Amino acid sequence: LVDVKIREECEMLHLTDKQLREIMNRLHNDLVKGLGKDTHANSIVKCWLTYIQDLPNGKERGKFLALDLGGTNFRVLIINLGENHFDMQSKIYAIPNHIMTGTGVALFDHIAECLAYFMKEHHVYEERLALGFTFSFPLKQLGLTKGILQRWTKGFSCSGVVGEDVVQGLKDAIARRGDVQIDICAILNDTTGTLMSCAWKNHNCKIGLIVGTGSNACYVEKTENCELFDGEPGKPDLLINTEWGAFGDDGTLDFVRTEFDREVDNNSINPGKQIQEKMISGMYMGELVRLALVKFTKMGLLFGGRGSDLLFKRGSFYTKYVSEIESDKPGDFTSCMEVLEELGLSHATEADMAGVRHVCECISRRAAHLVSAGIATLLNKMNEPRVTVGIDGSVYRFHPHFHALMCEKIAQLVRPGIQFDLMLSEDGSGRGAALVAAVACRQQLATA
Ligand code: BG6
Ligand code: GLC
Repeated sequence: LVDVKIREECEMLHLTDKQLREIMNRLHNDLVKGLGKDTHANSIVKCWLTYIQDLPNGKERGKFLALDLGGTNFRVLIINLGENHFDMQSKIYAIPNHIMTGTGVALFDHIAECLAYFMKEHHVYEERLALGFTFSFPLKQLGLTKGILQRWTKGFSCSGVVGEDVVQGLKDAIARRGDVQIDICAILNDTTGTLMSCAWKNHNCKIGLIVGTGSNACYVEKTENCELFDGEPGKPDLLINTEWGAFGDDGTLDFVRTEFDREVDNNSINPGKQIQEKMISGMYMGELVRLALVKFTKMGLLFGGRGSDLLFKRGSFYTKYVSEIESDKPGDFTSCMEVLEELGLSHATEADMAGVRHVCECISRRAAHLVSAGIATLLNKMNEPRVTVGIDGSVYRFHPHFHALMCEKIAQLVRPGIQFDLMLSEDGSGRGAALVAAVACRQQLATA
């Protein structure tokens, strides 16, 4: 049913295994650069140390607060870790657009305010609790409680924060209020939180992956491979936050980028930055589809050449539409029709719907294959017989075929003999943040 010319046009969105292997080689080189003492400064993929020294051992106990900033939702959480169970309550708070792009001070004041409200609501306003802060942006960590923001990603652009310690920013805001007492025990990335939360149950979990608003992975690396590490000797492994979303910022991915990728990048608030992320993640996927649909409409290949105001409006094709459209069974276009009606395209024929679905499939498959190339690169580099990948993020969670596409492609790309499991992180990185805080408390007690 799909128009031949649409198929032909979409060929540019298809990555061959040869291209994926080339991408893997290039990513491997960038990872090595990121880890190297002399090469780190000029490396695009930064491979930041996380200062998380121990994975949870399942014996962590106690009551912790957590903040989760940087995904679709900003959440405040309270977690009670007990023997073989945990209890978690959380609340989502909005971060209005003017705060996302306002000043850093306003952002931290807002976070502190939400935290204080939450503590009141959960009757811990008077207590002094430990807090783990999941802050999902690139941080140069100088310790478990010190992280310098390198750049904003994913639509945030608060002034006065890049180059500053984010933990201090939050501490200052809490002090400005003066009403609550918090011990910020750790700051971590969402990939790290995801890994920790999965590792609590599954000790094979050594990679944390996010395919959500953004895309990133962390993994367990041998200390001898991390030249930047100058901490206590004798640690066999370190947890590295790759920040692979920046892969391609130096043109490394230009050989597979398309006109749609270039346009998404040009229209973003951070042109030239986070190039790999822009080909994969939820913040951009819907827009990639929309741009392809606009092109094919203008070529007369879709909707009889007649689009709609919404179709031509930037950002109007949500990434969740891609998941909805691809959830239709073959031959059925119920969700697709609903989406097109929402977009004012009720004149679409069945052939148009097949074309729209094809575009969605090509773009989501390319994303799944790029993520798979990244994971296969890490698996090959780690070279362990079996590794579990803990995963979170709206794209992985809600796209009907992402998991299957990844299983298939990673298996084709890894070195023979390497096995892997993909595990959905059930509780987000909230629990991960609490676990990191708990492990940090354990260590602080041990050294006290
Ligand atoms: C959530 C995690 O479940 O997934 C967050 O708790 C993470 O820490 C998020 O950032 C990523 O997915 P998305 O789609 O919300 O960006
Ligand atoms: C962006 C952030 C990164 C985060 C990822 C997923 O790439 O820079 O820190 O892990 O999004 O949320």
